Amino acid sequence: MNILITEPKDYSKKALDIYKKLGRVYLCLPREASAKWGVKLSSQERLADILVIGLKYQIDKKFLDQTPNLKIIASPATGMNHIDLNEVKNRGIKIISLRGKKSFLRNVPSTAEETFAFILALLRKLPWAFDSVKNSSWDRIEWRGHQLMNKTIGLLGFGRLGKIVARYAKAFNMKVIACDPNVSERFMKSRGVEKVSMEDLFKKSDIVSLHVLLTDTTQNLIKEKHLKLMKSSAYLINTARAELIEKNALYNALKNKWISGAGIDVMWDERSDGSHLKKDSLWNYAKNNKNLIILPHVGGATYEAMEVTQDFIAESVFKYLKNKKSA
Ligand code: GLV
Repeated sequence: MNILITEPKDYSKKALDIYKKLGRVYLCLPREASAKWGVKLSSQERLADILVIGLKYQIDKKFLDQTPNLKIIASPATGMNHIDLNEVKNRGIKIISLRGKKSFLRNVPSTAEETFAFILALLRKLPWAFDSVKNSSWDRIEWRGHQLMNKTIGLLGFGRLGKIVARYAKAFNMKVIACDPNVSERFMKSRGVEKVSMEDLFKKSDIVSLHVLLTDTTQNLIKEKHLKLMKSSAYLINTARAELIEKNALYNALKNKWISGAGIDVMWDERSDGSHLKKDSLWNYAKNNKNLIILPHVGGATYEAMEVTQDFIAESVFKYLKNKKSA
């Protein structure tokens, strides 16, 4: 077996040792995938039977055409929009990912923690206050912010991350409301959370935070009409996937001041060479305004989360192959 690790920087030693038991491990050299050509693999890399990926490269037809032996894609993520699922299915390639691995993921709170980093940074205007200090200014009143106590946070999605964010919100004495068709009112109540309709979530929240998986049914779930329902003092946080929100709706909401600000860790059509930024009006908006924070999809990018997820995925690949052999 040839195992190709596409983003090997600081890779978990334990995970590498597991892969080494399965065959020859190749580490991709760091490179930028161009938006046009994708990533060009070397002749050795093209021999991969197992591809261990991150979120950096689009695993699309162009990529898969280069790896004719591929049998397994190992992806330490829950999201799948960087993988062309139809191509993968047609080629009979197995995907091993974090999707649905609930009990493991309960102990990976990085993205929920990032949600609060966004909330606090936005409501206390931290990036812009710090910029002003770097410009030798020392003005408390200019940078007055908002406290969280008694504010309402609305969670769209009450799965693994929504539940963790709710717990953190309670510690700040916030009111928590949530909308999730798959979770009962009774269960939410047991967590001190009020179940509301999607409309009420947008209407009543001071902060709306998205914790929904991107699927065919959730793509474009949030439209301009939802953002128009929000209080003009409210903020939107998106650490999930950009495509949950209709293209341009967030830009229009910010530009027209329907909302006070936003924090996003995800963008439409993310590319590792950053080529998506110039195409997105939000990027220019963020450079010229003091109410939008954009981060480069770092929700799960902590040393701790990356190490345990790399180990978990390596163990899952190992178990899958062992079971297959004994079947
Ligand atoms: C991170 O973005 C993930 O999908 O797990």
